[in-house]
Amino acid sequence: MKDTVLEMRNITKEFPGVKALDNVTLEVKRGDTHALVGENGAGKSTLMKVLSGVYPYKTYDGEILINGEIATFHTTRDSEKAGVAIIYQELALVKDLNVAENIFLGKLHQRGGVVSWDKVYFEAQKLLDDLGVEVDLSKKIKDIGIGQQQLVEIVKALSVDADILILDEPTAALTEAEVELLMEIIRKLKAKGVTCILISHKLNEVMEICDRCTVIRDGATIGTNDISELDEDKIIKMMAGRELTQRYPDKTAVIQDRVMLEVKSLCKWSKEDDSKKILDDISFNVKAGEILGISGLMGAGRTELLMSIFGYMKGRQEGEIIIDGEAVKISTPKKAIELGMGLVTEDRKKLGLVLIQSIVNNATLASLKKVSRNGVLNADMEVHETNKFVDSIGIKTPSVDVQVQKLSGGNQQKVLLARCLMTKPKVLFLDEPTRGIDVGAKYEIYTLMNELAAQGTAIVMVSSEMPEVIGMSDRVVVMHEGEIVCEYSRNEVSQEKIMLYASGGCND
Ligand SMILES: Nc1ncnc2c1ncn2[C@@H]1O[C@H](COP(=O)(O)OP(=O)(O)OP(=O)(O)O)[C@@H](O)[C@H]1O
Ligand SMILES: [Mg+2]
Repeated sequence: MKDTVLEMRNITKEFPGVKALDNVTLEVKRGDTHALVGENGAGKSTLMKVLSGVYPYKTYDGEILINGEIATFHTTRDSEKAGVAIIYQELALVKDLNVAENIFLGKLHQRGGVVSWDKVYFEAQKLLDDLGVEVDLSKKIKDIGIGQQQLVEIVKALSVDADILILDEPTAALTEAEVELLMEIIRKLKAKGVTCILISHKLNEVMEICDRCTVIRDGATIGTNDISELDEDKIIKMMAGRELTQRYPDKTAVIQDRVMLEVKSLCKWSKEDDSKKILDDISFNVKAGEILGISGLMGAGRTELLMSIFGYMKGRQEGEIIIDGEAVKISTPKKAIELGMGLVTEDRKKLGLVLIQSIVNNATLASLKKVSRNGVLNADMEVHETNKFVDSIGIKTPSVDVQVQKLSGGNQQKVLLARCLMTKPKVLFLDEPTRGIDVGAKYEIYTLMNELAAQGTAIVMVSSEMPEVIGMSDRVVVMHEGEIVCEYSRNEVSQEKIMLYASGGCND
């Protein structure tokens, strides 16, 4: 029998109006990779913040035992000293500092009060090499993609020797290849005797890498099992309290002849370096009622494509954009919205939500006309419209007046979706729409997408989750190095074909 490295006993944590944790217990064996799963808002992140001292001793009820000894952490420093490292769900890097500086933030190598930069870079590079991560150390965080930021977070957490490493949804923003890399890293750590606690909505990863699994629902422990006793369907049933027979709803929308968006020979050059082409001769169209999936690896230009069409990306651009039969010039996102377009971004903090504002304010931000009478905002209408979405996609909150930053990660994502869906766009761009969303809620979002399509919306979805692209799209295009390299219909597409083209393996 392995011994117990961590025990959390009867943990109860309340926020105003919300009992986030109600007598939760968690027991983790030394050297295990232990999964912590549950629906959005179940209390996973809160439980880990209790463990890491973000919520200090005495702000919760219950006991934490590490190696059999009672732990009373007042700060995250205390938990670090006890060998607990945590990678938070909401990335916490300093955007204006570079990668190396972020990795060693707060623990820069100094000699006589002077930071020894050579040593910082040397050590940082060594960490990256050990883990097989490729990132430019001198780049500022704001200039690298969200997937790379996630990898930097992981490297940073590993720069202190940890006994227990907590990963709160580390793979949500990673591509398949990067996920594989992370799995490799976790296996290496396990071989070294490090205990990992992994929070993930990707149950296939949980099944692949974890030894045991604890499910929590509505702030209470449902159970802990060896992975060998479980399968994905059993976990889902424990998470939701009911069975989910289908992952993707049947599509009832009929694809109309009306082309809602047509892009002809779109080329885009980098804002920083005008000789660098980011998008090369992109042409595609989407019809009313159709869902077009865009697949590809990170860096293939998928997000850049959506952002360029939507007027977010600066830099030289050529080509034609035709919306509902009319040639248009879109220089700003505002213009795109006026023309009937909607965009749900992958980086919900940078381009999406105003975290200190309420759910209502965030949700209605793009539909102010709809919730106004004679040009004056009508609070009742705002609340009414927002509540419709709170119900239909299940945003877990005591009220729509709650600040968005107080919501769980998945529920923040749902607010962003609600904002966009409220505008009833003609053309809807979704960039990783179900990132960080639990399996049951994904189904609700897919259902909403189908409903919108049935009402005549043309949907373009970028997703790194291949089953999602395949399960939801009428047509799939694959991008590689800024170009569209192939197109498949719903019946032809397969994971193997996408991978082959996405990785550039097929250049004929
Ligand atoms: N600072 C806070 N103030 C008020 N309520 C909070 C706060 N942090 C979390 N909550 C509430 O506690 C509950 C649990 O949230 P938590 O973030 O732990 O969920 P989660 O299981 O991590 O979900 P997800 O999968 O979406 O990340 C939610 O109802 C959330 O709204
Ligand atoms: Mg969470």
